[in-house]
Amino acid sequence: MTKLDKPIALAADHGGFALKEAIKAHLQEKGLEFVDFGTTDGAACDYPDVALPACNAVVEGRCGLALLFCGTGVGISMAANKVRGIRACCCSDVFSAEFTRRHNDANALCMGGRVVGAGLACSLADAFLSAEYEGGRHDARVAKLTAIENQQAAL
Ligand code: RB5
Repeated sequence: MTKLDKPIALAADHGGFALKEAIKAHLQEKGLEFVDFGTTDGAACDYPDVALPACNAVVEGRCGLALLFCGTGVGISMAANKVRGIRACCCSDVFSAEFTRRHNDANALCMGGRVVGAGLACSLADAFLSAEYEGGRHDARVAKLTAIENQQAAL
């Protein structure tokens, strides 16, 4: 079973809304299933509010990976990384989008609608979605991320 056997969780605030819509069309062309957790229009909203349901869907196993969007990609990545079990990366280069899956086992890719165009965003999404976590020497490092989460949760 790969992460793509489950639908992809999508979410955006108003700053990322147009990019989310472009990515939806791209995923549809590729025959990839997704669940859109909003926002459903370009009206102003707060990125933590849209990040949370999409991230919950990933950590609860209803979705495999998340693609998240805001104006910069940064705010929604901060929100996503507050959710236990989420490893979100804000990327605007294809190498990082690929290697955050391969080395960090990232489960959320964040992009900025005011930073990257639709063409680059599709390439970032493709690199992220098609890469597989390599495990091996990376397992101990990812486990240390989880250990930090667990220590913080116990406070
Ligand atoms: C909204 O204007 C903007 O602040 C938000 O989309 C995001 O860029 C924050 O990180």
